[in-house]
Amino acid sequence: MNQWPDWLPLRDDLKSLSPYGAPQIVDVVQLNTNENPFSLPEVVQQEIVSRIQEVAGNLNRYPDRDAVRLRAKLAEYVNLQSGTEFDVENMWAANGSNEILQTLFLACGGAGRKALGFTPSYSVHPLIAKITGTSWIAGAREDDFRIDVEIAVEQILAERPSLIFVTTPNNPSGTSTPLVDISKLAQASANIGALLVVDEAYAEFSTEASASLLIEKFPHVVSSRTMSKAFAFAGVRVGYLVAHPSVIDAVLVTRLPYHLSSLTQAAAEVAIDHASVMQSGIDELLSERDLLVKGLERLGWNALESSANFLLFSGFKGTSANIWKEFLDRGILIRDVGLEGYLRVTVGTAPENHRFLAAAQEIAQ
Ligand SMILES: Cc1ncc(COP(=O)(O)O)c(C=O)c1O
Repeated sequence: MNQWPDWLPLRDDLKSLSPYGAPQIVDVVQLNTNENPFSLPEVVQQEIVSRIQEVAGNLNRYPDRDAVRLRAKLAEYVNLQSGTEFDVENMWAANGSNEILQTLFLACGGAGRKALGFTPSYSVHPLIAKITGTSWIAGAREDDFRIDVEIAVEQILAERPSLIFVTTPNNPSGTSTPLVDISKLAQASANIGALLVVDEAYAEFSTEASASLLIEKFPHVVSSRTMSKAFAFAGVRVGYLVAHPSVIDAVLVTRLPYHLSSLTQAAAEVAIDHASVMQSGIDELLSERDLLVKGLERLGWNALESSANFLLFSGFKGTSANIWKEFLDRGILIRDVGLEGYLRVTVGTAPENHRFLAAAQEIAQ
């Protein structure tokens, strides 16, 4: 635990925390943060550079505070994917979807309020709850990491949180929650006046329909998305929210002025203009994921059925911490997500996955 100096007026409830983050180690095969392993197509790189050059002449000015052009493009992208009819006022954009989540907590969480999420799931949800003084309620998942909707609804009605989180596909399990189930959770959330935040960071890897389809019927349902994964754009930091215009108005109240730089907006606009080429690696990642599953099974290990670009696997002999270290000793960085008996691996390029499986084979012997 950090030893904080007496002179620092840090909040008591934050004193036990340390900064969040997976290890960033160079010169290893990095399969620990669910990044997309493919770099940006050359044509997109070139266009970003020339757009940035145009924008550079105006960097003495603040960016478009409301990122209108970017939001319009994001709406077009979501509409194309989901057959919806969203517009600028249904979209918000920020520095990664983590910032989207934080803005939602600032708007609807806080002291005296509760947030409920079905764990194990994305650990940043309870972390932001803590930072914003929101009480966190850990809802249950089944042994196979699926959400039992009947139990979930009961818990929602009993706890009456202001914010409810469903991550689908779920991190770290990779499992997805069908839209019919999300719809039942939406009804329960409506009954208690809660915002249902569906964290769809990995949506493009899944065949399940997006929760954004529910927004018309349930205005308190929001979909949190990111360009970090399928778009292979993690370094730029762009996440976005799809929501009813009143929710967008609410997050506009809690966002910082000029939060999204002109450089970020320009680069993201180019990326969305090239959405299909930016996402051309998805099919390859999905077939690589299948090969990884088979490779793990050959060792007598097993992976949960995943709808995302990562796998949660088990069946190894030894503790998660020890096996994680065994991989690292072989130059492979994966993620120990704190679930004993499980480890998470991000799907990499074919050579990276080969190296991972070769290391796994050695470890399994
Ligand atoms: C479920 C989930 N949501 C949100 C994020 C945050 O992504 P970003 O802030 O890069 O958009 C992640 C990142 O791993 C994630 O796994």
